[in-house]
Amino acid sequence: MRDRQAQAPRQDGDSGIENVISYLFYQCPMVERPRGTRDLTPEDMAKRRYVLDSIRRISDSFGFREIATPTFENAELFILRSGPDIVDQMYVFKDKKDRELALRPELTASVVRFFLAELKNYPKPLKLYYLGNCFRYERPQKGRYREFYQYGAELIGGKPLDSDAELIDLAMSVIRGVGLKNAVLRVGNIGILRKLLEESSDILACLRSISTENFDELSSLLAKNGLSDIEDTILSLAKLKGPDVLDEARNLVGDKAIEEVDYLETLGGVLKNLGMENIQYEPGMVRGLDYYTGMVFEIDCPNLGAEKQVMGGGSYSLADLLGGEPIFSTGFAFGVDRMVLALEAEDYSFPSRGLDVYVIPIGDSMREKAMGVLKTLRENGFSADMDLVGRGPSKNLDYANAVGAKKAIFAGEDEWSRNSVSVKDMESGEQTDVPIDQLIDALSK
Ligand code: HAM
Repeated sequence: MRDRQAQAPRQDGDSGIENVISYLFYQCPMVERPRGTRDLTPEDMAKRRYVLDSIRRISDSFGFREIATPTFENAELFILRSGPDIVDQMYVFKDKKDRELALRPELTASVVRFFLAELKNYPKPLKLYYLGNCFRYERPQKGRYREFYQYGAELIGGKPLDSDAELIDLAMSVIRGVGLKNAVLRVGNIGILRKLLEESSDILACLRSISTENFDELSSLLAKNGLSDIEDTILSLAKLKGPDVLDEARNLVGDKAIEEVDYLETLGGVLKNLGMENIQYEPGMVRGLDYYTGMVFEIDCPNLGAEKQVMGGGSYSLADLLGGEPIFSTGFAFGVDRMVLALEAEDYSFPSRGLDVYVIPIGDSMREKAMGVLKTLRENGFSADMDLVGRGPSKNLDYANAVGAKKAIFAGEDEWSRNSVSVKDMESGEQTDVPIDQLIDALSK
């Protein structure tokens, strides 16, 4: 074993980075990952990439275009506009010029900031999507992390009904497109509660107390605003969930918010025409972010247990809050980590991301020739690798199996003298000699 103390960093002459590396390597007991973060293995990443590839394909097919925004923003962007739940969970820090920055807890505020600064002259509607990591200081558990990955879409500047329907259609197409079978679509309209509470000077606080089911707080907020007469209506509305609850919602809210209930019903009709069955209506749905104003929706994958919500979104008013003109906007975000977990819970068989070909030189004399074969394979678009350790053929086959290679190519002197190599199908075990000049054609088949 190396003597850690003896190798302690020198104080003079070492560069800073050498000092850090030396400390980590020789002195530091064990540097652990921060709580709530994860390392992803090649297998984990293969699953994530499958999900991201599907997401990109489906979003592109809907005419959405991918954008990216910074991982950190001026903290103010989120502090002012997202609501206290998110703000409490934010990673906020000062940079060297004393600016207050935050790791993004979500991307909607960033997208709207970007829209107002640079995209507002693009033809409308603007259909944008993004993939990126987010950070929230939450109590970690399976499916709930402090760094997690979101896929989101925002549709800015369209007509409300068509835009909301298009967005929900995209979300459900993503669910189906990645292969998820068990998902529940729940749709509400926060406009109903906003309308009922419009005379209150504490609308956001009331909505938060409904969302956290803190009904005592709701009661005192309503009393403070002289609105105790609508308390029972709100409590009944908050409990209303199911495919056939809209008539009851209409009876509850009366004339006050009838248009908002009608909107939900019309939207439901459009969604049914798009093939969506089993829509669960929740006329009293409130989401954890303050900026929603109209339709709100969530998708659950019940197999996931406590953290079953794979997606949340709705229409919102942020552009005006950020100093721009009001413009209809609607969007959603999926938790990509939860999508992978949901697929695993359904025993989804993820497509293999193994190598196309693994090249095995038989003996040192064949290494250079094998390298030539490897280069040709790579230049022709195959993912290909070769023994870099100098193992024997059977150990090499074990390795080829372990990395999921579809074919193994043996480059041996005998075959080479006949201008051939031997190609083994790793699944069937079948092995055939293939002339080198026909190798690419043979593998392409
Ligand atoms: P959100 O509901 O806060 O909405 O997050 C969206 C999704 O991110 C959740 O449904 C969940 O799947 C995932 N998620 C949230 N927190 C965590 C966590 N700690 N660990 C793992 N996954 C998590 C938004 O972020 C809004 N920006 C959505 C939106 C876009 N609304 C309009 N446009």
